[in-house]
Amino acid sequence: MAEQDFSGKTAIVTGAASGIGAVVAEELAARRAHVIVSDLNESDAAEVADRIRDAGGKADVCAADVADADASRRLVEFAQEKGGSLHLAVNNAGIGGATEPTGDYPLESWRKVIDVNLNGVFYGMRFQIPAILEAGGGAIVNMASILGSVGFHNTSAYVAAKHAVLGLTKTAAIEYAQKGIRINSVGPAFINTPLLSKNLDQATLDGLAGMHPMGRIGTCEEVSALTCFLLSDRASFITGSYHLVDGGYTAQ
Ligand code: NAI
Repeated sequence: MAEQDFSGKTAIVTGAASGIGAVVAEELAARRAHVIVSDLNESDAAEVADRIRDAGGKADVCAADVADADASRRLVEFAQEKGGSLHLAVNNAGIGGATEPTGDYPLESWRKVIDVNLNGVFYGMRFQIPAILEAGGGAIVNMASILGSVGFHNTSAYVAAKHAVLGLTKTAAIEYAQKGIRINSVGPAFINTPLLSKNLDQATLDGLAGMHPMGRIGTCEEVSALTCFLLSDRASFITGSYHLVDGGYTAQ
């Protein structure tokens, strides 16, 4: 579809070595964007970039820690160097953190989750926005969660960070609404990625599936479809909003 053709556009995807980020990077590239595949994990990011190039797409790898402001600035400079200019960004890198009740929550995990899941999104936008303005406009998607709008036992840092991502997204969106940058957040429910499969056993995964009215957890492709739509010109009047892809989870 013409409006979801990202020819001539350069896109940064953070956390692109795995799960949702990898699928978003591959879909953007299949839709002809030049994708900067960024992650802490450089070797897995290189595999994603190889898959993109094998499929005829354009990709470069940039190892970066989103919790490091300077690395976020260098990532944007890398994208400008490789792609000419930056038009699109998906601030997707995220971690789960400890699972403890708030009264016992480990302070170190709190700091780490806020650093990656919240500060990382701010550092990303802090340097992406000036570059996208320079390019004449574009769009950003920040990966939140259903836990950006509802609570969940034993995950206070994650829930707090994801709620904050919604506020950050709204504020940046209104600041740049007349300057050609649309900024939205996406709220997936539980999605089948290593973030879940590495941390949870099958019985827990089955239990999570049952919490969704659709009776299953989601796929990375379902999150990617929404993300790519929001980045595309088909979403030209959509900014500052939070878009769920949750199988009905938050409708209950
Ligand atoms: P994942 O664990 O499969 O992939 C996350 C990627 O981020 C990994 O490649 C990891 O190396 C990278 N990463 C972690 N810390 C980083 C840092 N400091 N700097 C750069 N890269 C870093 O996770 P998944 O499930 O694909 O999650 C992606 C995003 O979607 C996260 O923001 C997560 O919170 C969000 N999300 C995931 C859900 C799920 O059920 N899987 C549900 C709702 C939201």
